[in-house]
Amino acid sequence: MAVLSREALHASVRDPEATSMNFLNEVAERFPDAISLAAGRPWDGFHDPADLPRYLRVFQDHLAASGMPPERFGALLMQYGRTNGILGGLIARQLANDEGITVPPEAVAVTSGCQEAMVIALRGLCAGPEDVVLAVEPWYVGITGAARLLGIDVVPVPEAPGGLDPAAVAAAARAVRAGGRNPKALYVVPNFSNPSGLSLTAAARRALLDIAEAENLLVLEDDPYGLFGLDDEPRPSLKALDRNHRVIYLGSFAKSCFPGARVGFLVADQPVLAHDGRRTLLAEELSAVKSMLTVNTSPVAQAVIGGLLVEAGCSLRTANRARTAFYRRNLRTLLAALEEHFPNAAGQGVRWTVPSGGFFVVLEVPVPADEKLLELSAERYGVLWTPMRFFYSSGGTHALRLSCSALEPGRIGEGVARLARLLADNG
Ligand SMILES: Cc1ncc(COP(=O)(O)O)c(C=O)c1O
Repeated sequence: MAVLSREALHASVRDPEATSMNFLNEVAERFPDAISLAAGRPWDGFHDPADLPRYLRVFQDHLAASGMPPERFGALLMQYGRTNGILGGLIARQLANDEGITVPPEAVAVTSGCQEAMVIALRGLCAGPEDVVLAVEPWYVGITGAARLLGIDVVPVPEAPGGLDPAAVAAAARAVRAGGRNPKALYVVPNFSNPSGLSLTAAARRALLDIAEAENLLVLEDDPYGLFGLDDEPRPSLKALDRNHRVIYLGSFAKSCFPGARVGFLVADQPVLAHDGRRTLLAEELSAVKSMLTVNTSPVAQAVIGGLLVEAGCSLRTANRARTAFYRRNLRTLLAALEEHFPNAAGQGVRWTVPSGGFFVVLEVPVPADEKLLELSAERYGVLWTPMRFFYSSGGTHALRLSCSALEPGRIGEGVARLARLLADNG
């Protein structure tokens, strides 16, 4: 009988972040009645399976209106397909409408969720062990997990009050170079980041692009929460400000449409020059990576998202008005509940971030917010949250992430009340 040593398997199998997330899921399963301020997924009330056949039909009507003969639909939707997908044109229109991003459809590669876009971008950019990626810390575990899978080192750049101090990016890039390695790109979530909820100021966005140019860095911009600001302030995406093809935009439809489609995309309009003089776009080159990962993103799933985009007139900002209103109300409810249940926050050694949108708030607490406290919290107090330590290379020991996206607004206050009791009894 083949018995394998777990330690002999690749390190990604023992990925500490995956282990942490499994622990969280396992606690959630054991205490199904606990109120989850841990889950960052979208609210289930937005998901109606009756929409699916309609989206599929709308997409086929769109194909017909674009001049495709109906006898070709079967091959398009049910055969193997083009590696970079069939939604480049619709996604380019949506980005132009919602974000002021102007890119040709060939610069878009449709991926199996944003997660695959991260893997493809990292794999394509980092050619050898000397190539590393910078990432704003605390970070989304999807990027560090992807890097670990690929054996790529991630160098943290600490988050700052304005989201990011661009000078810290330059300092990190120089330190990497001084150590004989190449910083290839910086990963950043400029709007309402996961996990911190922080956003980059407009000045930091422009300064970051200048630093990227000066330090010869690419920027991996991930923006799944940008539609969910508490106000209607325009927050220009880095890609919209990008004059020098420095930004690779990683797109997710998980929050703006629905995560079960597993459709995301990347935008890579960087020109690539081969030694024989042939010029292509980076997205076209990266298709070689994608073809060996998932061949192509399910055309059925693409057609569903395509129909949704067509129905939305290629504006997710408009189509998401109800979602935006719901998440705004939830975030305001969460912030108000923190005020209510921690009336003497400073005296209790507690403070929290006040994000201008998104799904997440970080609560700093006077006790270690570790697995033990989480277990106690779930079992005795009936509330779940995420230890911030999961999102750091080191640090985050006395903080927890609260998410308000998946809950009915009425449950949020009770969840925070339970959390306040946990901290009062165990602080
Ligand atoms: C910052 C960030 N990027 C990407 C994703 C995942 O995107 P997808 O579901 O499209 O793979 C998430 C999901 O939580 C996220 O928070």
